[in-house]
Amino acid sequence: MSQETVKGDAFENLLHEERQFPPSPEFAAAANLGEGIYAEASGDRAAFWAQQARELLTWSKDFGQALDWSEPPFAKWFVGGEVNAAYNALDRHVENGLGDRVAIHFEGEPGDSETITYAELTERVKRAANAFESLGVAKGDRVAVYLPMIPEAVVTMLACARIGAVHSVVFGGFSADALRSRIDDAEAKLVVTADGTFRRGKPSSLKPAVDEALSAPGHTVEHVVVVRRNGQDIAWTEGRDLHWSELLADASPEHTAVGHDAEHPLFILYTSGTTGKPKGILHTTGGFLTQTAFTHSAVFDLKPETDVYWCTADVGWVTGHSYVAYAPLVNGATQVMYEGTPDSPHQGRWWEIVQKYKVSILYTAPTAIRTFMKWGREIPDKYDLSSIRVLGTVGEPINPEAWMWYRDVIGGGAAPIVDTWWQTETGAMMIAPLPGVTATKPGSAQVPLPGIAVDVVDESGNSVPNGHGGFLVVREPWPSMLRTIWGDPERFKDTYWSRFEGMYFAGDGAKKDEDGDIWLLGRVDDVMNVSGHRLSTTEIESALVSHPWVAEAAVVGAADETTGQAVVAFVILRADAQTRSTDNADDASAELRAHVGKEIGPIAKPRHVLIVPELPKTRSGKIMRRLLKDVAEGRDPGDATTLADPSVMQQIAADLRK
Ligand code: PRX
Repeated sequence: MSQETVKGDAFENLLHEERQFPPSPEFAAAANLGEGIYAEASGDRAAFWAQQARELLTWSKDFGQALDWSEPPFAKWFVGGEVNAAYNALDRHVENGLGDRVAIHFEGEPGDSETITYAELTERVKRAANAFESLGVAKGDRVAVYLPMIPEAVVTMLACARIGAVHSVVFGGFSADALRSRIDDAEAKLVVTADGTFRRGKPSSLKPAVDEALSAPGHTVEHVVVVRRNGQDIAWTEGRDLHWSELLADASPEHTAVGHDAEHPLFILYTSGTTGKPKGILHTTGGFLTQTAFTHSAVFDLKPETDVYWCTADVGWVTGHSYVAYAPLVNGATQVMYEGTPDSPHQGRWWEIVQKYKVSILYTAPTAIRTFMKWGREIPDKYDLSSIRVLGTVGEPINPEAWMWYRDVIGGGAAPIVDTWWQTETGAMMIAPLPGVTATKPGSAQVPLPGIAVDVVDESGNSVPNGHGGFLVVREPWPSMLRTIWGDPERFKDTYWSRFEGMYFAGDGAKKDEDGDIWLLGRVDDVMNVSGHRLSTTEIESALVSHPWVAEAAVVGAADETTGQAVVAFVILRADAQTRSTDNADDASAELRAHVGKEIGPIAKPRHVLIVPELPKTRSGKIMRRLLKDVAEGRDPGDATTLADPSVMQQIAADLRK
């Protein structure tokens, strides 16, 4: 563990940010929450969450104790309660006369669109639940989901939740190998996929990766359900593969949802950690639904009758779980779902969508904002964005310039910006302003949400005073916290609960400014953040050394103006591969980039693979990634005196200049 990022001066100037944007009196007057909520929550946190759980959800059996923390770090929230996630997201709204309200405005990449009401979505989920049950999927079974951003992804997740099956969504940008390892780890019985999707006007495929993943024997999958989306030719395994449309057409539209225990597993979502093996983060039902629904309403000031909400995250990531598939529906909101990329068929596509549906709440990642800045404000300026009233960001630190641009250009200089810090592990937002209360500061996520106990501590776990930096921790259990790592409770304890006694260690560096507001400074471990996507240094290094040409590899996340970080790999080739590389280093780089794409997925491909003769190592043999980061970011490498061979860095830097 290094504290380099905490001490780094890249963010030093952030602490001198003096601009503040209090909510307008009109916004504050109409806001869902006022300042009193903090005091209300701070007295008895568990009681506060119990109240939220009862107000926001419909329980089929009320719970007793709000929190059982008798065996930390294994928490139980809303003990003995029973609740069905799909019933809360769907049926109850229909029962309350809201069946005609739009649940999803779907916008396909080729320009097709579909409007789905709560009544229609409920029926689809009931059919899918019956269909999955007819395939033998029962409560507790795991279902792998490998789908694009289409309504069937949400239908699948909710159908699983309805019957108590545990979904494990695998992002479509992961490779067949990555999919297989996730299927194996969760022992999935069913895979739901699509023939493919569209990317920048062209069909792109998914089903072939599933076929490849399942080509080797020894897996647990009995059936593959395939949604027809792009109409491409696909291979078909009779008996195993089934058409989504036929299966749903044959299924009954009636299905009664029964309550599941509050601690019944809802989903597993794999995320990169500091070792090569992704961690299956396990979330359970009652606490997850409570905190996602509360934060979605509080932080976006959601008015479900009038707002049109759009979260641009893919369902393959946690944001697409908490704030696409669950919270908006539990809160009865109308949301937009978009299949494609921001630049297809033109760079104004998002703003065209905002204008078309009169989007009032937009939630996206800083990377996207920086990309739009690069494309120029003339593009959004061509559209009517006056419907926007709240803007959210998530996934990585947002630089003040991008924050100001977002506010001025997209938010018309008036919409409050809520910078939300959280993680796959936290399940829901943890640090964020409340738009009707907080005077926002460009670049800071600022304050722990009501009922959440976040702190910044030093090496020994002592709270740092204002004006100082350290490690971000959570001091008290929270409802949507991960319950364990699937199949590996020891790793759960080691990873999050062993660094500081009695506290959850998030892996992020942070600072408190003079007002006590929190500024996130990036990861302090071997996790990179590329375009808001979490990637593991070690995982990419393992992928590289699995190639027969590679003797050793070191990977760093180098600062990048648009994507936050970019993956840069330094590789030593084996002697027998070296002749090939001296002939054509470009070929070797291309081959190794492709190899990482195959092993993990296109999202993990290094931007650069640099073939080097040596790696900088300490006398004890540890690779000094900090020095590699320096050269990758175009700086003179810092102090190299602790290296076993100090000349190595000069050589690498010289090679790079060539
Ligand atoms: O480093 C933090 C960064 O993203 C990490 C969590 O990644 P993931 O589990 O993929 O979840 C992303 C979406 C919730 C964190 O450890 N991060 C997330 N939000 C912010 C952030 N960094 C700074 N500011 C944020 N608002």
